[in-house]
Amino acid sequence: MATWKSSAPSNIALIKYMGKEPGNRATNPSLSMTLRDFRTDVELDLLSSGAERDYWKPLPGSAPLRESSTERFVQFFQKLKAEAGVKECFEIRSGNNFPSDAGLASSASSFAALTKTAALAFSDMKKTSLPAPEILARLSQTGSGSSCRSFFSPWCSWEEHRIGGVESKLPELVDLVAVFESGYKKVSSSQAHQRVRTSPLFAERGARVQKRFEGLKAALAQGDFQKTAEISWAELWDMHSLFHTSEPPFSYFAPGTIRVLQWAEELWEKEGRGPITTIDAGPNVHVLVPTTDRAHYRQALLALGGLQVMESEA
Ligand code: PMV
Repeated sequence: MATWKSSAPSNIALIKYMGKEPGNRATNPSLSMTLRDFRTDVELDLLSSGAERDYWKPLPGSAPLRESSTERFVQFFQKLKAEAGVKECFEIRSGNNFPSDAGLASSASSFAALTKTAALAFSDMKKTSLPAPEILARLSQTGSGSSCRSFFSPWCSWEEHRIGGVESKLPELVDLVAVFESGYKKVSSSQAHQRVRTSPLFAERGARVQKRFEGLKAALAQGDFQKTAEISWAELWDMHSLFHTSEPPFSYFAPGTIRVLQWAEELWEKEGRGPITTIDAGPNVHVLVPTTDRAHYRQALLALGGLQVMESEA
């Protein structure tokens, strides 16, 4: 039996994709750091010719997906098959090396890994060359928008007409994620994308984000750590303010979320230095610091209590 395997990393956006249009088209550009240590593995087995349907199973030792997530994953695979003109059926197996659905963007790594593995399988079966990363990123975007940024590292931007790497003179960074919960999210990111459109803050978001996007690209190119941290801070509050002012409002914040934000704010105020801080659609706080400062910040975070720290380099 033929088997194909591949994996893809997750990513954390400093400029967020939120409030999507049909087909996962973005209303604004976004920019992220790729998290090479938070990964999804995907395996595809070609089933014998009598098989009538594709199905999904967790990789051994991995958690099962929710029914709705499984359905979305298999449907996306079938779309990839249709586009490649593949009629055969497959067993799809996948697993994350980090907790699913806990605000660690598992949809980014899982859809990127599925797209990559499907492309490997289909190009092998059809004896065609593997599509370029930007083509794969575009395909993956139609399954999960944020997954398109997992094809370039360590920094990637997604604009309407270009998905690709971004120049950075920052030192090598590590993402120390302060994790408070690993249960399922109450409001999925798909629901959040719809709900934010009801916020009175949404109408002007495009203009605010465009400015930050340009500012962040310049800060990265200049290696300006403090400016990067300021932009990331403003953008985290912008996205979460959309959530807090939607109709009806919702929030991902846990008590620990606020504690870590206050800690980061105080560091900048009192010491004039601190981390780059951001939060995804979840309670966990991503604390990005130079790899040389990893031990210091890890210890400081753990000293706050009531949290775990998960780490990924870019
Ligand atoms: O790719 P989706 O539809 O799961 O959207 C994810 C959106 C955020 O993670 C909240 C922000 C982002 O740009 O990654």
